[in-house]
Amino acid sequence: MGMSAVDGLTELSEQQLTHLREQVATLGYGPALLAETESLAPGQPDAVALPLVRWELLERGDAASRLALLFSYGGEVDAAVLAMDLGTELVAALKAAGLLAERRGGSLWCPFRLVPLDGLLLLGDEPSAGPEAVMGPGPTTLELAAQLPRVCSGPALDIGTGAGTLALLLAARGAAPVIGTDVNPRATAMASFNARLNGLAAEFRTGDLDAPVAGARFTWVVSQPAYVLRPEGTAEVTFLHGGQRGDELAFRLLSRLPALLAESGTALVLLDTPVEHGLPLSARIRASVGEAAVDVAVLVAPALSAGAQALGYAALEAPELGDRYAAAVRRYRRQQVALGVSEWSHALVVLRTDAQTPAGGRYTVQLPVRSLSQGGPEALVTLLASLHIASLPDDALVEVAVQLHPRATLMEERAGLHAEPFRRVSFPGGAFASEQALTEAALALLEALEATPEVTSAVSQYAKLCDAEPSEVRRTVLDFVREGLGRGLLVPRG
Ligand SMILES: C[S@@+](CC[C@H](N)C(=O)[O-])C[C@H]1O[C@@H](n2cnc3c(N)ncnc32)[C@H](O)[C@@H]1O
Repeated sequence: MGMSAVDGLTELSEQQLTHLREQVATLGYGPALLAETESLAPGQPDAVALPLVRWELLERGDAASRLALLFSYGGEVDAAVLAMDLGTELVAALKAAGLLAERRGGSLWCPFRLVPLDGLLLLGDEPSAGPEAVMGPGPTTLELAAQLPRVCSGPALDIGTGAGTLALLLAARGAAPVIGTDVNPRATAMASFNARLNGLAAEFRTGDLDAPVAGARFTWVVSQPAYVLRPEGTAEVTFLHGGQRGDELAFRLLSRLPALLAESGTALVLLDTPVEHGLPLSARIRASVGEAAVDVAVLVAPALSAGAQALGYAALEAPELGDRYAAAVRRYRRQQVALGVSEWSHALVVLRTDAQTPAGGRYTVQLPVRSLSQGGPEALVTLLASLHIASLPDDALVEVAVQLHPRATLMEERAGLHAEPFRRVSFPGGAFASEQALTEAALALLEALEATPEVTSAVSQYAKLCDAEPSEVRRTVLDFVREGLGRGLLVPRG
């Protein structure tokens, strides 16, 4: 499929863009409708799911469904009916700008994707449109977006901005000034259009990673770099391939981050990377940022299996699922095998710095989580506060008060009917924390903290429970508190 020109988009006036946004919202084309349609055939490639999704939307037949068909699912809509939905003038302007195109029989289709997200409307490309396709908001964009606070301030940078989604979310939430960079000029053109479409102030610059912002520093840096491996013989897709192994671009970006953060700043990077047994991802990230004064926290969830990745990326290359698809599946699998990689991590990397952060950072930690969607902005803030306290020296740690994470659920489990029960702590949602089995000692320590959340009193309490002197159990309590804060089991109280 060829790529549609983006030059005509600048012809649309502010008034026409506002009208488009308002009509789309008024007619009810929003994230709730898209979530419903996505649940019709979850996880299926487009070629498999689209006939069903399009049929369901046509059957429903309301204006919102027509807009979803047109703008999200590449379907056709009768021109006269669309003129009634959006207005004759707006439809004519969208056609002149190339945002709508005619098909025989008087129907119209959209050569792009136009997706509502969190009050914004974002133009992107259909993902298999070609090597320079611009990535609009996808599931992984949403994972990263979910970590951003509802209210932001200070300068923000989105590296590899694609359609500008994360940059524009930051701008909508109060960050200023906001800059997005991308090596793909089509992306920066489309992101600039999206800024106008949403009436937001953000600037988009074309170039490699942070080269277009040399010397500037930011309170927020966000990025979802391209991180998929590129097999030999596969044409490079800018939004997808991060190198032959996949994570080369992401690690080049990570090494740049300390120089981009303001005195007080946070960087959030989402990536997939091969698991290297015996070398935790957090250590690899620390190695790439060196002795910079940044704290490093890495949330690690399981990534798609090797097979699922090969199928998904091949379907992007050959959405018709024919012979080309079969050849692409084989190419991806061969590359995975040649690299000797069978397992990947899907990770959110958080780098933080403030005026007191020492060289080498206060902490470099990694936390296994079920999924990066299990948390949210509050969960991340809580985890970072816990990690900060966990990095305090003993005599400061003993002065704080902590408690079991309020989202923790304690469950009883047993390996068999004759086996002794044990307790497991799990986190159904709203927390970044690791599920774990709790020993009798851990349960007693939690009991002591429940009775007296101040660590110093918990030492005395636990000593009583163990019939020991406080000095004999102080080390055990401090280690438990430090480890519990680091794994999300405990949080600072108050
Ligand atoms: C996975 S997409 C993410 C798009 C968008 N940030 C999002 O989350 O929806 C990766 C983006 O990085 C861009 N990119 C690839 N290589 C780059 C480079 N060397 N410098 C800057 N951007 C790059 C691609 O063009 C693409 O827009």
